Amino acid sequence: MKNLIRLQDLSVKEINDILDIAQNIINGRNKSKLDNKIVANLFFEPSTRTHYSFNTAEHKLNCKVLNFAPESSSMTKGETFYDTIKVFESFGVDALVIRAREDRWYKQLLGKINVPIINAGDGKMDHPTQTLLDLLTIRQEFKKFKGLKVLIVGDIAHSRVAHSNYECMKKLGIEVYFAAPKNLQDKQYKYVDFDKYLPKVDVVNMLRIQNERLEKGLKVESTYNKNYGLNKSRVAKMKKNAIIIHPAPFNRNVEIDDDIVECSKSRIFKQIKNGVFVRMAVLLRSLK
Ligand code: CP
Repeated sequence: MKNLIRLQDLSVKEINDILDIAQNIINGRNKSKLDNKIVANLFFEPSTRTHYSFNTAEHKLNCKVLNFAPESSSMTKGETFYDTIKVFESFGVDALVIRAREDRWYKQLLGKINVPIINAGDGKMDHPTQTLLDLLTIRQEFKKFKGLKVLIVGDIAHSRVAHSNYECMKKLGIEVYFAAPKNLQDKQYKYVDFDKYLPKVDVVNMLRIQNERLEKGLKVESTYNKNYGLNKSRVAKMKKNAIIIHPAPFNRNVEIDDDIVECSKSRIFKQIKNGVFVRMAVLLRSLK
């Protein structure tokens, strides 16, 4: 039984194996299916990309899919997160794809659920399939990881993408830098000057301000776009082959300007496309 909980738990080889499977699916060299496996997508927190790209991946693999909607479930009568998961395990589903707001929600499940669990986002902590699709997009561009420089910009404090990317990219030999205003910094990391480092890096990962997670009273400055937004003049200073990524959803004209979202350096929609193949690879790893 192969869970996917945190990329920190995987070796470099295991990470590359998942990316290879995804790339082979894209190239038509891997046509594996999971005929009739039942996968339950349990999203206790809103999602468009992760939820529906898992859904698409499951359809492409010929799985049967259950999409759980907490707002029309017995959770409205007080059923707990744990009991809801136990219900789906009892149905006999083959895998559980779970996203929830609570940091490390999986701790209450491990050892008690005998079905593979795939982490589709836990609170502010980890987003392993987002990092895998970021890595696939980067590898397609540069054909390597070692020695690349990635600058992650924005709301680091509340971002599971920042945390997952940092741990995994470091392991792969990527140099990771952070730039953020003081009130959006996670103090465990060091920070660099955005404008000074932008021209030096191969990849800039622009993060959304996670308004839904901001602590009471925490205000994002009206100068945020001026100081940390990616605009035409900043993009002009990037290296010739450097690329822009963003986990999305994006706040247009806050962390990224309208005319940058689909500019020639942007790989944002390529990331979303890659997300389907990475999630197919993750499902194959857990269920084949
Ligand atoms: N990037 C990402 O996780 O997007 P969703 O919240 O829409 O799934």
